[in-house]
Amino acid sequence: MDSSHATYAFYALGAGALTVSLAKLKTRLELSKAKHRSLTGHARMSRRVAALIPFYEYDEHRFFRADDPPEAVAERRRAAFARLTELYRTRYAETVRRTAEVADSISDLQFTDRYRVPFQFSRVVREHLRAGAFLASSSGVTVTDLDGNSFYDLTGSYGVNVFGYDFYKECMARAEKRARALGPVLGAYHPAVSANVRRIKEISGLDEVSFHMSGTEAVMQAVRLARYHTRRSHLVRFCGAYHGWWGDVQPGLGNPVPAHETYTLKDMSEDALRVLRHRRDIACVLVNPLQALHPNANAPGDSGLIDSSRGARFDRAAYTAWLQQLRAVCSERGIVLIFDEVFVGFRLARGGAQEYFGVRADLVTYGKTIGGGFPIGVVCGRKELMKRFRDDRPADICFARGTFNSHPYVMAAMDEFLTRLDAPAMRDLYAGLDDLWNGRAAQLNERLAAAGLPVRVANLSSIWTVLFTRPSRYNWMLQYYLRAAGLALSWIGSGRLIFSLNYSEADFAAVMDRFVGAAADMERDGWWWCDAGTTNRSIKRGLLKEMLARRF
Ligand SMILES: Cc1ncc(COP(=O)(O)O)c(C=O)c1O
Repeated sequence: MDSSHATYAFYALGAGALTVSLAKLKTRLELSKAKHRSLTGHARMSRRVAALIPFYEYDEHRFFRADDPPEAVAERRRAAFARLTELYRTRYAETVRRTAEVADSISDLQFTDRYRVPFQFSRVVREHLRAGAFLASSSGVTVTDLDGNSFYDLTGSYGVNVFGYDFYKECMARAEKRARALGPVLGAYHPAVSANVRRIKEISGLDEVSFHMSGTEAVMQAVRLARYHTRRSHLVRFCGAYHGWWGDVQPGLGNPVPAHETYTLKDMSEDALRVLRHRRDIACVLVNPLQALHPNANAPGDSGLIDSSRGARFDRAAYTAWLQQLRAVCSERGIVLIFDEVFVGFRLARGGAQEYFGVRADLVTYGKTIGGGFPIGVVCGRKELMKRFRDDRPADICFARGTFNSHPYVMAAMDEFLTRLDAPAMRDLYAGLDDLWNGRAAQLNERLAAAGLPVRVANLSSIWTVLFTRPSRYNWMLQYYLRAAGLALSWIGSGRLIFSLNYSEADFAAVMDRFVGAAADMERDGWWWCDAGTTNRSIKRGLLKEMLARRF
């Protein structure tokens, strides 16, 4: 090669390398742009920031004065807190006694108890307003504790309870009868499996089914299959979406190690679509349609209620358009679109989110309610994606097992659940569901507005969240007023209220009265006092100052 050829070759190589670097830089920048600007959108950063937050807590003086109220307001709060403490102590005595007995030995209980309210307030609340962890029975839309107190159930049992507890009790009792002869035999199938497979295929419009023990496991398997068949490494999840507690779908807070093969992208964003169009390492996109209620935000819990900036608003048309765009990009790029319907399946429509939004996925996960009251996870999908081996490579398999998968009792209860779903009355139940629950939410909001209370609700059908309209550091107190008014909430408090579909108008009216009454009591007791200059931003600034003062 003469020297001029060598120079050309050198330049060509240089140009090639530059082009490759620029292309890499472009895809890297696209990825950065597709991250939501909040900490929730930045898994690594959120862990780093979390590690910097120092622990401190308010003593019983500061507890009532975190927003520097006039002394008369602090005194009103203190007196109200003492009344509530006494009410909790006497009304829930046995339930609380039993809870205290086991609390030291149940790590889950210690965790949930600690994170019911912002950490600065947590100890004083724990010492006084003890929430009992036990219940004795359920019936209709109510649950009863060990002291005989009856509560309207707004926990929905984490979303399992779609049709009312009695419905599931029937499924479980019938299942017990049907599965008794086979008992705990695993590996071989109970005959109920055949009907389950047939019905799930019909409902999902997909070709094959696999059974698992929890929603988390179903999601793990769906992602594993997508990686296996696309031979690509990464999963995409959207900012804030919960898909169970497996590390790869929980790359931020809560997971001690980074998830290297997960992209967390902005929900409902053109920037995210651009990433899907251009990257070659994306195996699948996971969608939890519950995020339609609060895109890009975590599941709302009261321990995060440091101010009143919690937001939520469901726009069905906008979310439908988003899913359609996602569907198109995934089809174009050979990316597996997974709907994680563990929460919303069978709640929004008989055919779940696929039917409700009119968009079809390649793989769908179900869980919670489909077990008819028992633990469950289900994956269903297109035939070519569900296959766990390759005909031409016998050693290249996609492994998935699970000792208790397809447990006879669970399969029989699922059959009972799915059989009941086919009844005409159940089909009618789904008609007009949105109108019913939107109407109920609007009714409650009108009552709250008419009473001048700084509280509203937002909903995705029968899944509700509570919002606060006046800047305050004490919104989390509402959960204790609601419980005192006979409304059962899960440990995340007012973040999520889940109604079962058997709530009658009279039941709902009773809930509404109690809700408005509880909020009125809280207003009267001074927790929502706010001076003219207070904003959510000023609250956050004040908290930051507090933390810096503790740290340095
Ligand atoms: C959308 C979604 N996916 C997965 C899971 C995990 O299910 P499980 O708790 O049964 O493991 C949940 C649980 O809340 C969920 O809401």
